[in-house]
Amino acid sequence: MCGITGCIIGQGNVAKILFNSLKRLEYRGYDSAGVSTIYQGKLIVKKDAGKIDEIHSRLDLLDLPGNIGIAHTRWATHGAPSQVNAHPHTDCTGSIAVVHNGVLENFMELKQELEARKHVFRSKTDTEVIPHLIEEYVKMGRGLAEAVLEACRKLRGSYAIAVIFTGEPDKIVLARNESPLVIGLAKGMNLTASDAAALIEHTNKVVFLENGDMAIVTSNGFKIIRIDTGVPVERKITELSWTLEMATKGGYPHYMLKEIFDQPNVLREALRIQERYLDLLTEFLDRGREVFLIASGTSYNACLVGSYMFSKLARLSTYPVIASEFIENYGSSIGVDTVILAVSQSGETADVLTSIDYARYRAATIIGITNVLGSTLTRIARAYVLQNAGPEIGVAATKTFTSQLMVLALLALRLARKRGKVSQYEVDEFQDELRRIPELVEKTLKISNDPVKNLAREVARFSSMFFLGRGISNATALEARLKIMELSYIPCIAYPAGESKHGPISVVEDGYPVFFIAPNDDARKHLIGNIMEMKARGAKIFCVGAEGDEEIKQLSDWYLGLPSTHPLLSPIVYVVPFQLLAYYAAIERGYDPDKPRNLAKSVTVL
Ligand code: M6R
Repeated sequence: MCGITGCIIGQGNVAKILFNSLKRLEYRGYDSAGVSTIYQGKLIVKKDAGKIDEIHSRLDLLDLPGNIGIAHTRWATHGAPSQVNAHPHTDCTGSIAVVHNGVLENFMELKQELEARKHVFRSKTDTEVIPHLIEEYVKMGRGLAEAVLEACRKLRGSYAIAVIFTGEPDKIVLARNESPLVIGLAKGMNLTASDAAALIEHTNKVVFLENGDMAIVTSNGFKIIRIDTGVPVERKITELSWTLEMATKGGYPHYMLKEIFDQPNVLREALRIQERYLDLLTEFLDRGREVFLIASGTSYNACLVGSYMFSKLARLSTYPVIASEFIENYGSSIGVDTVILAVSQSGETADVLTSIDYARYRAATIIGITNVLGSTLTRIARAYVLQNAGPEIGVAATKTFTSQLMVLALLALRLARKRGKVSQYEVDEFQDELRRIPELVEKTLKISNDPVKNLAREVARFSSMFFLGRGISNATALEARLKIMELSYIPCIAYPAGESKHGPISVVEDGYPVFFIAPNDDARKHLIGNIMEMKARGAKIFCVGAEGDEEIKQLSDWYLGLPSTHPLLSPIVYVVPFQLLAYYAAIERGYDPDKPRNLAKSVTVL
């Protein structure tokens, strides 16, 4: 996730407006930034690695003349955070500048084609193909709008772009596919940005572009056309009643809620992860004599899910280990044949880094999954995959958990194909289901929000509760427990449902709340027995199960039915109502869900 913005004004300079907009968008990415304006027929570009204020203190981003400009704040996905990879990117002639938010799937083939036609690339980004493509069409005599239209027709993947060209300094051309883009209409000027947060200071009149829209924005008007047909289209002007604070959070009261609802898009981005990185990790996983999955907190719960995926789909046994326990438990037995897959959204968790550092010196192979390019994990690991989830501001991990699960599923799928130990049919079925996941999560959010919000009123009064699941749902139970405990401060217990009778069941008395995670998988029939055990002791049963599972519904005091999916993917769907429950229970109890007490987003102490 990155933030893009642009402004064109009848008279005066846009530098200050762009700078303020960038600051509002900084939550979308902050590893590098840049601004470009047109002045006296020339393109001026200032960009660098670092946070916006740091760059400003070095380059003075306010010292940029020109009444038209675009700007970008970056969260790296392709190419490290560096001056050369920072946006805006320009063409060979230095007359076209582009800012982009999204991931281009076919940039490699486009880049090869363009290089064969003598275009010179400076960065390692996917974005740079866009100005070069536009340059091609401009050279053929097309106007800017037409050139952008032609270029967009060649792009596959997600994009929101803003383009300026010295040959037509009276317009900014925008285009959108699966990444957000808004036009702001103000007096004497028009603006654009990835979200309304960057515009609200100047106007509350906005136009939300839709997928497949291209827009031509001048200082006193705008026109939208469809990319596929070139036909003009009308979009309504919306008057926002948002405060500045609401706008930064996309209209949600907290970042956490925004991040929960961002998940369908985040999962779509995860599906676009470059295959060559997945292939590389798959190679290493396949080679290991033993494979450890090391992580902390939510990322550990993701590893637990991953261990079921690797085992069931790829027939690879892996050992999920809590990072702070790894050296004590396995330190002395690891060696050159050991592969360690470290999972850390921040890539900076001290427990994880200490473990992999230790393992590295014993010649183990370290590979990683992280959300932060340039983090220590990306520097230590032999190979890594980026989650593409964008920055997560809420301290509680939500969208980064489900995107970790998506990456693990993609790896398990590749490994399954490579090892060929399960049937082609099973592997294909898994792949089809994986593609449906963003849509299922979208549906789950719709189904869950209202019932869960109501339930949170009751849950907020509990002094303790159980979360139980069997098989892969044991990991979902652990994650549900962690979310609710860390945000509402209610002590909770999570256990494999089959193990609960070996001790924890003694806690249960009349009315004690027990949550079951009950997808329609092989573990279901035994789970019903565990529900009966709890009911027999007077427990109040709350179940999240499959839509249409009347048997479990009848056994429950509260039931939420979710869309069915592949059993190995059920945690991605089933965790969603628990994320919502954690959020709403914290609100009910009067706590700030974005900043739970005693916690930090990245835990850099042992
Ligand atoms: O950045 P990491 O994924 O390595 O962070 C691991 C944990 O600190 C993190 O998941 C923590 O448990 C969160 N508070 C969970 O919501």
